[in-house]
Amino acid sequence: MVQPAVLLGLDLGASKVVAVIAVQEEGGGLTVTGASIAPPQGGIRNGEITDVNLTQAAVVRAVEEAMRTAGQTNLTGIRVSVDGIQFKGENLRDSITISNPDRIITVADRDRVMELATAACKLAKEETVLHRIPQVFHIKGQRDIKNPVNMMGDTLEAEIRIIVAPGPVLENIHRALHLSSLQGATLIYSPLASAEAVLSREDAENGAVVVDIGDQLTHMGVFVRGSLTHSAVIPIGGQHFTKDLEITKYLGGISVAERIKRIYGTALPSQTDPTEQVELEDEGRMVPRRDLAEVLHARAVELLNMVLAEIGRSGMLHEIHGGVHLVGGGALLPHLPILAQTILGRPRVVLGKVSGIQGLPQVMGNPLYTNALGAVKSLHRDLREQGERRQGKGIVEWFKKRL
Ligand SMILES: Nc1ncnc2c1ncn2[C@@H]1O[C@H](COP(=O)(O)OP(=O)(O)OP(=O)(O)O)[C@@H](O)[C@H]1O
Ligand SMILES: [Mg+2]
Repeated sequence: MVQPAVLLGLDLGASKVVAVIAVQEEGGGLTVTGASIAPPQGGIRNGEITDVNLTQAAVVRAVEEAMRTAGQTNLTGIRVSVDGIQFKGENLRDSITISNPDRIITVADRDRVMELATAACKLAKEETVLHRIPQVFHIKGQRDIKNPVNMMGDTLEAEIRIIVAPGPVLENIHRALHLSSLQGATLIYSPLASAEAVLSREDAENGAVVVDIGDQLTHMGVFVRGSLTHSAVIPIGGQHFTKDLEITKYLGGISVAERIKRIYGTALPSQTDPTEQVELEDEGRMVPRRDLAEVLHARAVELLNMVLAEIGRSGMLHEIHGGVHLVGGGALLPHLPILAQTILGRPRVVLGKVSGIQGLPQVMGNPLYTNALGAVKSLHRDLREQGERRQGKGIVEWFKKRL
């Protein structure tokens, strides 16, 4: 009996390493059977490994626990969601002449034009291309083609987006994975993982934005006509909200401020009772809840204005009909989607909901797991597509034999 494939999705965040185990079902579906979170204790900062031993320890703890809950001992594939302050994206284009006498565009032609477009980017010496994402293709006389392979044309033009990161940053991520005995892992840029998890095909086609509010950073991706057209990292995350509370209200340390934020915080001061007082347990001091909300509101407005500026930079502000989807722990601040609706001027701002995977509702409904789920979902899709290509070839061979 063929064993079902067991896939691991990992997310390396500043505040937590997340592992999810998902099993490929016979019918083609994907079921999450195990999940776990472990804090890297300062081993990851701004998306970069700052202590490989601390990171390795967190990865091993998260993976072992996820495997244990899933009752698995072997892995078939691993994909890791990564991001960071130094990750960059750029849109590029180039074109080639189709030289085959029959003018039929091949996979090799598509790869060649994408490679040429990539070469147009002046990378810094240590930068590496993590992703080369096709957006749209054109042939002479026909524009906006999704996949030009097998079509006819004299020329082929590609518009692509590349994601680059410093080689050493990626190498040290691989090093931490290697030390954790996770060989053969592939990496996915976190906005792509977020989108894979929460955007339906229609959302991405109709224009949608994912905003992942992490601990130190916010990552976002703008998707139009099904493809990533803009991505950005904003150096503000949930930690800044907490520090603002601590600094302005003297809450007695970051961990107290974090707890107060999670219990009493909101992005909308108008949603609080103006007379309500919050008691700081350690000191017995009272702080008006509305004052706390004012502090969080100010930071939320700043962050959302930066998100708006990035959507504006993408040139797609008026193409976003599939909504803005908030993910990451920072998105848990109550009333943030309502405030975002006003600031972004978009009627549909929602907390990202993972779809297309089954199992463990407490994992599926928790934004802390979104990127790990997106990573495992994208790996599952790639494996299926590879399988289908192999099968497709098999059918062609079968037909050939019978002719
Ligand atoms: N209920 C809540 N209300 C407000 N903020 C919250 C809540 N729960 C968690 N957070 C915030 O979420 C943040 C952590 O989010 P997340 O786990 O997505 O970050 P990360 O992936 O570890 O970090 P990064 O993406 O920056 O590397 C913390 O700053 C935390 O304060
Ligand atoms: Mg994160």
